[in-house]
Amino acid sequence: MEKAIGVIDSGVGGLTVAHELMRQLPKEKLIYLGDTLRCPYGPRPREEVRNFTWEMVEFLLEKDIKMLVVACNTATAFALEELQQTLSIPVIGVIQPGARAAIKFTQNNHIGVIGTEGTIRSDAYTNALKRINATIHVNALACPLFVPLVEEGILNGDQAEQVVEEMLHPMKESNHIDTLILGCTHYPLLRETIQTVIGDHVTIISSSEETAREASTILEFHNLLLKSDEIPQHQFYTTGKLDIFSQIAEDIFSEPVNNFKTVTIEKAVIC
Ligand code: DGL
Repeated sequence: MEKAIGVIDSGVGGLTVAHELMRQLPKEKLIYLGDTLRCPYGPRPREEVRNFTWEMVEFLLEKDIKMLVVACNTATAFALEELQQTLSIPVIGVIQPGARAAIKFTQNNHIGVIGTEGTIRSDAYTNALKRINATIHVNALACPLFVPLVEEGILNGDQAEQVVEEMLHPMKESNHIDTLILGCTHYPLLRETIQTVIGDHVTIISSSEETAREASTILEFHNLLLKSDEIPQHQFYTTGKLDIFSQIAEDIFSEPVNNFKTVTIEKAVIC
């Protein structure tokens, strides 16, 4: 049987990456796991995020995946290196691709990064950006209220705009950036609202396109791309409630999505 690409996130955010993988690699089968029950990861200590991430990874390894995409910035910041060193399959995260894309777009070398408290505290974006170009100015800001909004499906309208306005206020004040990295895979779901608040002069970067490109390059390099012409049957797992998860998935994919299941990942039992 042909193997799948495993995709993990703390909840629904990684579906934005899954969608781009499906667009760029239409023959590939995905197995997605969102740890919605324990979302958000952003405010949790590093050790806890590492443990939760490993539990997700172990669930997917039992499904014999051929590659792992860590579609969560917080998990990428805290666990990517260790996963890459330990697993025998290729593993990619979302921070390096996002940093690369932002460097391509900035004209004035002032880049903003918004993410969870954990991602911003880790300095993972600042380090990734400065590794590519040491003269880049980085304005990093944690936006802890965005993930709960997205997980509740509040993506636009007055309430969303008010929260986004409040969170982005310090970044708007400084008024230098011409490029803004959405350093959390949940944030592309608020993209329109963020663009309205931050203004049209700022280019918004979400790492999903660049991450999917990297996945494609790596699969090709390792000769792991699927050859078959069958329509892939993706599988979606959540540790939380199915209704909001499947609703948000359908909004992102703009089509009905099947094959959703709730799982308990500590025991990897399908309920
Ligand atoms: N979507 C995740 C990220 O990219 C995590 C959000 C959270 O669980 O706090 O960081």
